[in-house]
Amino acid sequence: MDLAKSVDENNVNINSKKILIMSKTSRPIIETKSLGKKVSVADGDLSILSSVDLTINKGESIAIVGASGSGKSTLLGLLAGLDSPSEGIIKLDGVDLTALDEDGRADIRNKLVGFVFQSFQLMQRLSALENVMLPLELRGDQQAKKTATDLLNRVGLGHRLGHTPMKLSGGEQQRVALARAFVTQPAILFADEPTGNLDSKTGEQIIELLFELNQEKNTTLVLVTHDKVLASRCQRSVQIEAGQLV
Ligand SMILES: Nc1ncnc2c1ncn2[C@@H]1O[C@H](COP(=O)(O)OP(=O)(O)O)[C@@H](O)[C@H]1O
Ligand SMILES: [Mg+2]
Repeated sequence: MDLAKSVDENNVNINSKKILIMSKTSRPIIETKSLGKKVSVADGDLSILSSVDLTINKGESIAIVGASGSGKSTLLGLLAGLDSPSEGIIKLDGVDLTALDEDGRADIRNKLVGFVFQSFQLMQRLSALENVMLPLELRGDQQAKKTATDLLNRVGLGHRLGHTPMKLSGGEQQRVALARAFVTQPAILFADEPTGNLDSKTGEQIIELLFELNQEKNTTLVLVTHDKVLASRCQRSVQIEAGQLV
């Protein structure tokens, strides 16, 4: 055995391991400071979120839990750049979203973010396959059909490619929405109650898929959930009460 070569290989291994550990654990991909959201209502301003300081590292999985009406969906929308805050800042991968206009935020979302809405928000006139192909086609991806088909197969919908959302069950629509959010391999996946409409068996499959992607692609997962099984699979949970982290 060539000792010098073996030592050298070990060094390479040690170094690449170090780099892997650094990139997996130490870089914030989402940072908020004093984040707040107010909306105007008939008798003045209503505060629905306040003083949220949160840092999420690349590759982390985090569950946002709390009672209905506590502000979870509002927080998720702000973190994803879908909505703008009344106070504070949000940085995605070091870029301050609050310094950008809607077009600038759309660019960042395109680059970094996949979002699964509680209400799915699929295009009703498009088939399951076309819904999942759409984000790829918008990027001019020539492999859109193959990539989308593969992913729909992976979520167990290979036999429903041509169905429009109206002809799919709630659970099936949820899986199409998840495939659409994943298809561009975003660095961050936000999902609002991703197992909320699923029976426990399908829910399990979705949870497996989420964490496989988290492991395989180092996708950062930010999940709003009531599902204790799902929350316990995340590296950490944060609780929100009346618009504040507790
Ligand atoms: N645009 C809005 N106008 C008025 N109230 C709102 C608006 N958006 C959310 N809210 C209120 O803010 C609170 C938090 O909402 P939401 O973030 O959807 O909660 P959760 O997802 O935890 O159930 C709720 O009481 C909701 O009714
Ligand atoms: Mg909600």
